[in-house]
Amino acid sequence: DARAWLTDQFKILGLLVSTDDAGNLIGTLNSKKHTDKIVMIGSHIDTVPSGGRYDGIAGVVASLCVIKHIKDNNINLPFNLAVYDYLGEELNDWGISCIGTRGMIGALSDEILSRSNSSGNILKDEINKIGGNTKSLSKPLPMIQNILACLELHIEQGKILEQKNIEIGIVRSIPSISRFNVEVNGQAGHSGTILMHQRADALVVSSEIITYVNKLALKLSKESNQHFVSTIGKINVYPNAAAIIPGKVEMTIDLRASSKSSRQQYITELEKQIEDINKTSSCRIEINETAYAPYVEMDKELVKLFKKSADASGLSSQIMDSGAGHDTAQLSRVAPASMIFIPCKDGLSHCPEEHAEILDISKGTAVLFNMLENLADSNQ
Ligand code: GLV
Ligand code: MN
Ligand code: MN
Repeated sequence: DARAWLTDQFKILGLLVSTDDAGNLIGTLNSKKHTDKIVMIGSHIDTVPSGGRYDGIAGVVASLCVIKHIKDNNINLPFNLAVYDYLGEELNDWGISCIGTRGMIGALSDEILSRSNSSGNILKDEINKIGGNTKSLSKPLPMIQNILACLELHIEQGKILEQKNIEIGIVRSIPSISRFNVEVNGQAGHSGTILMHQRADALVVSSEIITYVNKLALKLSKESNQHFVSTIGKINVYPNAAAIIPGKVEMTIDLRASSKSSRQQYITELEKQIEDINKTSSCRIEINETAYAPYVEMDKELVKLFKKSADASGLSSQIMDSGAGHDTAQLSRVAPASMIFIPCKDGLSHCPEEHAEILDISKGTAVLFNMLENLADSNQ
């Protein structure tokens, strides 16, 4: 439904609507100059379960506003301007995030594309159903060569801008993100008859891992002066009934780190802990990495140009590191890319309380437009 809505908005603005092979929904304003060069603006319209209304969506709506402004004022740009709704940015049931941008850069492996979700739907079939063509995703899409810049506006999802009363964050880096699937196998049984010392309770063993992950991340975040966080936010208990000892637990570890060595230390210590628990408990634990995105730095020239754009818009700004993952991180692996943050209330995101003031979104939108003018000046 959201894609249908966005398609209508693209049409109202007179954009050329298309879906690329990775399933991204695109509205393009072609330059009168007949060029292949592209500047991409946009973000994502999907959201997390029980999420907010601004994460991703603010960036897409801001991009629509930029297009409207360009059209209303008959501004000619020396490059084609494409508004992207990147497909499936949030972590989903296939255990992967940033589907559309990973697809664009040739980072969706056959293994990932062949995964089934909990309803038994295969990822590649779903991408193809909405207009993608997964057969051509084994290498970067040819259009990548024509990208001049990938720009994204996003809510900060943290408290730095709000607390410092700064209007625009200019992103310098995005941390590595890993997701691990942990499966704990015990033995289901009757909660009234199996005595305490006879049990292989998968949930009890899982609770040890949850506590360990939290302590380990706390330790490493203190030791490294770079961004380091880890969370277990998803857990399925089987069969999840009050009178049955839990026989199996599946959970997902989410790890974000800017330092390679801290990330490696975390993985080594966690694997050692799991090995120890496997030796001493009656449950079997297996751990697998299901997704990885490396630490990336944004294009230095674009960061400078964003700073210049914020200054020209008369807005306060700060260069900062992202805590969250973004499609721009994937794109920055193959093309010049950078993004800006705007403040959001109490730094809350991925929850229904998520909120950004329209005034703050419009300030970011002004910077985005200014950035396009600066890019136009340097690419005449
Ligand atoms: C994206 O929302 C992320 O999980 O960082
Ligand atoms: Mn998100
Ligand atoms: Mn987002």
